Amino acid sequence: MMKDDIEEILVSETQIREICIQLGAQITHDYQDKKPLLIGLLKGCIPFMSDLVKHIDLYVDMEYLSVSSYHGGIASTGDVKITKDSDISLKNRDILIIEDIVDTANTITTMLEVFKNRGANSVKVVTLLDKPGGRLKPYTPDYIGTTIPNQFVVGYGLDYNELYRNLPYVGILKKAVYSNKES
Ligand code: IMP
Repeated sequence: MMKDDIEEILVSETQIREICIQLGAQITHDYQDKKPLLIGLLKGCIPFMSDLVKHIDLYVDMEYLSVSSYHGGIASTGDVKITKDSDISLKNRDILIIEDIVDTANTITTMLEVFKNRGANSVKVVTLLDKPGGRLKPYTPDYIGTTIPNQFVVGYGLDYNELYRNLPYVGILKKAVYSNKES
């Protein structure tokens, strides 16, 4: 079964729920006089975005972009591509990017630049997970669910070779799964 591939649960369903409630309240407070445009980066954002927005008590627009940088492995290629762009104009909008994880920060810093160049009024980032040990450039997200060690994780939107996105928690994958060795 899929769950047998998980070595350890790092962020439980209960913890994720608490994070969504807390971040939702903070975002509601910070954007109270605004109508932010929430942009989720597919596909990893889906579980987090759908749970988080339920705790944001504001009028919001929601949009999704597809960005690719991993191409199936466990290390970022650093080559960030927009494969599905926004249908909504970003000009003068207060944008809140919703990410599953910030690792090297290549993806998010590229997106920040793109959105600012398109005339956004403000661009901030909320990420469920922050992995500062993986950084290739200095960057701190505006809203962080929780900080994790520099390990490859799956679940709750995060994949390995497109699998495990449907796990209800975030866990560490057994090394044997990607090294073909028994751990
Ligand atoms: P970054 O550009 O290296 O910051 O990585 C951002 C993207 O890489 C995330 O949106 C994820 O899709 C993917 N990623 C980074 N770390 C992990 C991980 O531990 N597991 C699964 N995907 C990851």
